Amino acid sequence: MKTITVSASKTYEVLVGSGLLDQTGELTARVVKPCKAAIITDSTVDALYTERTRRSLEQAGFETLLFVFPAGESSKNLTVFGQALNFLAEHRLSRSDLIVALGGGVVGDLAGFVAAVYLRGIRFIQIPTTLLAAVDSSVGGKTAVDLDTGKNLAGAFWQPELVICDPDTLATLPERTFREGCAEVLKYGLLIGEEFLRSLEETPVSDQLEAVICTCIAYKRDIVAGDEFDRGQRQLLNLGHTIGHAVETKADYRLFHGECVAIGMAAVIRAAVQMGHCSAALRDRVLALIRKYGLPTETEFTADELYAVCCSDKKIASGTIRLVVPAAPGGCRLLPMPVSDLREWLEKGLAV
Ligand SMILES: NC(=O)c1ccc[n+]([C@@H]2O[C@H](COP(=O)([O-])OP(=O)(O)OC[C@H]3O[C@@H](n4cnc5c(N)ncnc54)[C@H](O)[C@@H]3O)[C@@H](O)[C@H]2O)c1
Ligand SMILES: [Zn+2]
Repeated sequence: MKTITVSASKTYEVLVGSGLLDQTGELTARVVKPCKAAIITDSTVDALYTERTRRSLEQAGFETLLFVFPAGESSKNLTVFGQALNFLAEHRLSRSDLIVALGGGVVGDLAGFVAAVYLRGIRFIQIPTTLLAAVDSSVGGKTAVDLDTGKNLAGAFWQPELVICDPDTLATLPERTFREGCAEVLKYGLLIGEEFLRSLEETPVSDQLEAVICTCIAYKRDIVAGDEFDRGQRQLLNLGHTIGHAVETKADYRLFHGECVAIGMAAVIRAAVQMGHCSAALRDRVLALIRKYGLPTETEFTADELYAVCCSDKKIASGTIRLVVPAAPGGCRLLPMPVSDLREWLEKGLAV
């Protein structure tokens, strides 16, 4: 088992290791005295992993409750959020009890936000079961639900007490879901630097799962420690996401998030070369790597269409954005610019 300690407004451990799911109870009892533990999960993960999680928690003395909602991003909304809060209240969870977020990023974001708000905040732990959740969403304390007007528009910063990541649980992921998680890993490759990037070129993520997860989390840990509330360096994690989100919205969620991030990274690095920020050699290397992982590098949408989406994005329409621009492996920069400059980046980024 590997342990990564995150120091933010709360200090907590991320435990990564094969077989840890069955030790959930004893690992949790190290940081939270046995109490009521409300497992929040989605319908798919429930069928796969609730039983083992529940058994382990009960063996360690926790009394378990279970709240299950239908799998999918469409459940990350205020209705399910309200249902979960009512469920906790009906079962009289107190401030000394615990929420267990068991699942991918949707579960983690929703259950984390429930934990942040219920009784003005109770403790929770994260058990990520997708690659995306393992390397990204389960660490760092961003929680959210979507509003009708856009993704993640309501939420809170609320750190977990513990993150338990058992890479064996990723074995049941549909291939496309695993692949989209790889897009986030490739993003880290470009952010972290040459050695990690090369290892992703030489060895598939699936053959070095535990090491990859630890490397990504350790990087995110460092970023979060310096900028928990996303005012500066943490925005580097948005590499590929500005254009990616526009593609995601335009595709009306027919494309997976990671696929859109791959398209976004490809576009931003193409434009970065033309704007003189990055070498053509690095661009070609990154495009080849994205394709090697079976991810897309092009989109059917035009620069005008995506620019229109960016302009209507509530989070960025307010004037200035900070685009993450790759210059070298381990050398990405935040470039402030008016939203209107995005049009040129899109035009250059989409020209294949
Ligand atoms: N909080 C953050 O910092 C942060 C960062 C990145 C993304 N996110 C959020 O994460 C969400 C996306 O996360 P995701 O990609 O994990 O989506 P997800 O939670 O919807 O999981 C994808 C699908 O895989 C299924 N699944 C989960 N684990 C499984 C397993 N082990 N075996 C088989 N199937 C499994 C789920 O039921 C779901 O159908 C988005 O809502 C995004 O906004 C949050
Ligand atoms: Zn992402």
